[in-house]
Amino acid sequence: MTLRPLQDSLGRPVTKLRLSVTDRCNMRCMYCLPCSPEGGWVQRSDLLSFEEIERLVRLLAGMGIDRIRLTGGEPLLRNDLPDLVKRLHAIPGIGGIALTTNGFGLARHAQELKESGVSTVNVSLDSLKREKFMLITGVDAVARVLHSIASAAEVGLRVKINCVLIRGVNDDEIESIARLAEHDPYVVRFIEFMPFDGSGLWNPSRVVAFDEVIQRLATSVALEPTDPPVSDGPAREYLPAGWAGRIGIIPSVTRPFCNTCNRLRLTSDGRLVSCLYARDRSNDLRAVLRNGGSDDDLESLIRDIVSRKPAGCIEWLKGDDRRPAAAVPPPGHRVQTPMHLLGG
Ligand code: 5AD
Ligand code: SF4
Repeated sequence: MTLRPLQDSLGRPVTKLRLSVTDRCNMRCMYCLPCSPEGGWVQRSDLLSFEEIERLVRLLAGMGIDRIRLTGGEPLLRNDLPDLVKRLHAIPGIGGIALTTNGFGLARHAQELKESGVSTVNVSLDSLKREKFMLITGVDAVARVLHSIASAAEVGLRVKINCVLIRGVNDDEIESIARLAEHDPYVVRFIEFMPFDGSGLWNPSRVVAFDEVIQRLATSVALEPTDPPVSDGPAREYLPAGWAGRIGIIPSVTRPFCNTCNRLRLTSDGRLVSCLYARDRSNDLRAVLRNGGSDDDLESLIRDIVSRKPAGCIEWLKGDDRRPAAAVPPPGHRVQTPMHLLGG
């Protein structure tokens, strides 16, 4: 079924879906999860079923969505995830399925995920030091995550390693983490710390900016920018001479990519979110699904939500406060848009 391609009111096409399959996580990363989520965790009965997800993705694929990233929380905590991957992989128009994971349970599932249709895994890894890893994530698991990374590569998954840099926490490890790509074909990506943490840790001085990462790496690594870029995402990529892998930097705070944003997010409880900075409250696709809505009803709500997609964080960046309005908690609330709901 081919429908008119999705486009927002600024003319940006929407082609990528980040699909959060659970809000739960078995880690507690300081830059992500609130200690106790406002409004509680999503109840089991409120989670979209695989059938519901499949129906929505089929519809979205007809409107031009061709890439899917499964996220959480930690997506591997959702039972039978490979079954969902198979269903989504079979939908005409869906070209690639990727998975963002903390790596805790990945080694065990890598083979099955690959066979089901996952092509790429993004594994979070913010420190190589055991104590520091524990401090950041709350879990003693750095060895386990490194083992997962190796297992994923062994079964033929493309591996990207995501590292959120926080000044004073892990910015002393830029070079050692980058070197994970020296002998293995991984893409190691440094991500600027965005103001969506549940802990109140974020402030502008905690952000290690793109320029600084480049400067620091350039003292020991011969960085060659890839031209044209190898992947079409927001990462700026570099190929150090003689390395097996690559380095990427995602300058989400200092050089936001809102102008070319082609993403849409679906929360595990069925809300369609057009932008991390959206304050849209009429985005409940689950209600339409469960009230017997037709595909036409769903399509028109999806188009409404997409048409309301905000310009992004461009506006607040013009001011001197780098904390976007959408991330300022209302009185008595910890955060308004926690990442574990929005899927990273
Ligand atoms: N800033 C930047 N990236 C974040 N993520 C989660 N919270 C933040 C934040 N505050 C992303 C990271 C992590 C993934 C699960 O979500 O990429 O690896
Ligand atoms: Fe879990 Fe990922 Fe958030 Fe860490 S960043 S708490 S691993 S969802």
